[in-house]
Amino acid sequence: MTRLAGASTEEASQRSLIVLGSTGSVGCNTLDVARRHADQYSVVGLSARSNVDRLLEQIRLFRPEFAAVENVEAGANLEQVLTSEGLSGTKVLTGANAATTLLEELKADVVMAAIVGSAGLHSAFRAVELGLTVLIANKEPLVMAGHLFKQAAKQSGAMLLPVDSEHNAVFQCVAGANAVDQSVSKIVLTASGGPFFRAAKLPSWASLAGITPEQAVAHPNWNMGAKISVDSATMMNKGLELIEACNLFDLPVDKVEILLHPQSVVHAMVHFVDGSSIAQMGLPDMRVPIAHAMAWPHRFESGVSNISLAEVGQLTFREPDYQCMPCLRLARDVAKEQSPVLATKLNAANEVAVEAFLAGKLPFVKIPEVIAKVLDDGNGNRADDMETLIGIDYEARRQASQLV
Ligand SMILES: NC(=O)c1ccc[n+]([C@@H]2O[C@H](COP(=O)([O-])OP(=O)(O)OC[C@H]3O[C@@H](n4cnc5c(N)ncnc54)[C@H](OP(=O)(O)O)[C@@H]3O)[C@@H](O)[C@H]2O)c1
Repeated sequence: MTRLAGASTEEASQRSLIVLGSTGSVGCNTLDVARRHADQYSVVGLSARSNVDRLLEQIRLFRPEFAAVENVEAGANLEQVLTSEGLSGTKVLTGANAATTLLEELKADVVMAAIVGSAGLHSAFRAVELGLTVLIANKEPLVMAGHLFKQAAKQSGAMLLPVDSEHNAVFQCVAGANAVDQSVSKIVLTASGGPFFRAAKLPSWASLAGITPEQAVAHPNWNMGAKISVDSATMMNKGLELIEACNLFDLPVDKVEILLHPQSVVHAMVHFVDGSSIAQMGLPDMRVPIAHAMAWPHRFESGVSNISLAEVGQLTFREPDYQCMPCLRLARDVAKEQSPVLATKLNAANEVAVEAFLAGKLPFVKIPEVIAKVLDDGNGNRADDMETLIGIDYEARRQASQLV
């Protein structure tokens, strides 16, 4: 397994931090952790799409040098308010390239990539190209182009630290091990089952026909953004994570197992060839993996208490039933192909279908149908450059939108 980051013995001094997607669920949790460690982190850049109200609150608190707003009108509004409040020390960047310009202007030490979906691809990749320490929560770019991220990190010297809780858990389990490729026999990613796949008797996919967006986003364990919550409900989230894990840890799909674990206490486990297995546990709160990545290779407080196994009482695990989880099945089939082209199509079609479902334009159960049709169309050519993948993403989105 490729080490994602090399251990450092340096004691942490104050580091500058950019949070991309600062107004989202991961972004807010990151700022919560940063606030607790103001002696070690200074927040110099924030970015959002259009949520000016929340961005303004964050600017008042952290006084960053730059704020990037993708939506031009929203950015202009923010600038006006900042001027009227005497906060024009924070410069506003707007437009589609605002987040990448922010990275180039500031060249911060650490970047949290927490934009949702492939919208975060350019900025996360730019952060890697610039050789920064990139804490990556934004899983979709890793699904599409994990191999390019790793190549770019090798070239630029960037550190790529996984923040997605399962991948961060794997990283914690293998950290410090030498020659991990030979020593690891398998990794296990756990899945809560979202709101629908938790009961002893799993529902058939067809029985979920009437599911509404409100029901789908109501995740029982995690408090997350709308898109990832729907992905958890369809089980596509675990499918994306499966591909993300194969890409991040250079593993074939048969070395990555998925287990349903409704309590969300064990986030991942690594089996070693000598019969040892190491699991990472914690309360389902993203501040745990965020704090781990921010403090790495040290540790500091996240604001989350340790798990009490006595209180939890019972931990249960079972294999998923791919028959009732068509999204997970599609993602597993794509993972087997090890094709960035297919992974990009899967991700793009899923993003379009989920957005349509959230907007009330597509029934829940039709999400995998749209994805399957986009995947069926054309072949899985190799794509070794970002431009080709971006073209494939665009075309898959166009097809998925038509199907919707
Ligand atoms: N939430 C979790 O617990 C969790 C756990 C593991 C991994 N992740 C991954 O982390 C990423 C973020 O998830 P989240 O749940 O935090 O999402 P979220 O709550 O929906 O927040 C998304 C963030 O991205 C910004 N954004 C959306 N579209 C954008 C665009 N086109 N250009 C620029 N910025 C844009 C949003 O700005 P506005 O607020 O202005 O719209 C917001 O700041 C996802 O890839 C997700 O899979 C999340």
